[in-house]
Amino acid sequence: MIPVILSGGSGSRLWPLSRKQFPKQFLALTGERTMFQETLQRLVFEGMQNPVVVCNQDHRFIVKEQLEALGLATQALLLEPFGRNTAPAIALAAMKLIAEGRDELLLVLPADHVLADHEAFRRSLELARKAAEGGELVLFGIPADRPETGYGYIKCDLAASGLPDGVNRVLQFVEKPDVERAKRFVESGDYFWNSGMFMFRASRFLEELQAHDPDIYDNCLLTLERSQGGTEEMKIDPASFACCPDNSVDYAVMEKTRHACVVPLSAGWSDVGCWASIWEVHDKDERGNVVKGDVLLHDSHNCLVHGNGKLVAVLGLEDVVVVETKDATMVAHRDRVQDVKKLVKSLDDQA
Ligand code: GDD
Ligand code: MG
Repeated sequence: MIPVILSGGSGSRLWPLSRKQFPKQFLALTGERTMFQETLQRLVFEGMQNPVVVCNQDHRFIVKEQLEALGLATQALLLEPFGRNTAPAIALAAMKLIAEGRDELLLVLPADHVLADHEAFRRSLELARKAAEGGELVLFGIPADRPETGYGYIKCDLAASGLPDGVNRVLQFVEKPDVERAKRFVESGDYFWNSGMFMFRASRFLEELQAHDPDIYDNCLLTLERSQGGTEEMKIDPASFACCPDNSVDYAVMEKTRHACVVPLSAGWSDVGCWASIWEVHDKDERGNVVKGDVLLHDSHNCLVHGNGKLVAVLGLEDVVVVETKDATMVAHRDRVQDVKKLVKSLDDQA
């Protein structure tokens, strides 16, 4: 099995710490190692080959440095000139391996997730392997317990399905519903979140991509033909990749295919996508605060305060996020941190 690590995201919801030049997956936000390193480290066990890493070409040296620090190597490094989202990134990895005569099982993993229970993760992988070997596209599902709008929602058919025990056919997949729909899904108790991790045989994924989004399929095939590099490192050709539609694997394939199934994952999963999830995964003081750096808190509850050099003093606030960096300080309500990416967009528009 070959892991495909998606690490081309910009992590804009974790601004001002996460920047385009140094996005969140390469930062140690949740422990001593970066999230990219944590992702690689949990894949070191028998039967798992070295990963294919798909990232932006600007991050080539960060990736290499972080791999070297762990003494790990890649199967291949695919360097994108710009992001075209996850469907093309996975397609390029799958096509490259097939071109090398290696139609293997792929384990697609985002580089920015936390998984606390490695044993439970490995058990889910074993179950998924059985389904993926039978030609299924496997999604790893997390029981949905709050109306988070940044996730995909999956409803399963719980009746016997001819799939291995514990694996269920996907009846419905809805990517990033609005909050009303998300609330209905959670209240029904029937939905999983899509964890964004997948397992399938390379050729099976490409068959489904070709059926549901032939434009991405054709463009990626052409792009790969025109890209430079060898087995170990490949620079994706910008001119042909620019013609490739920008779409996520969730919209392009997972919402549409009839060959998706779910393996439940109870492994302390968290998508460290925004400041609220950083607050969630950290140990808190007796007032529910998470602090880092030189911080003085008074009469404040459930806050996240991230200092960086200067003293940050917070008085009488609740559910607030304060993040200080050298050149920017951000203050937001913890319920509004999904919109930090809007702040970043307006900064980009002004630039
Ligand atoms: N190489 C590459 N190129 N990687 C990318 C690109 C790209 O253009 N765009 C995103 N990625 C990487 C990100 O770095 C991240 O590791 C992963 O792909 C997923 O992208 P996100 O942008 O973080 O997706 P999301 O969080 O909005 O949604 C996905 O994950 C949710 C769970 O965390 C979806 O799969 C949802 O359905 C899912 O619930
Ligand atoms: Mg994400």
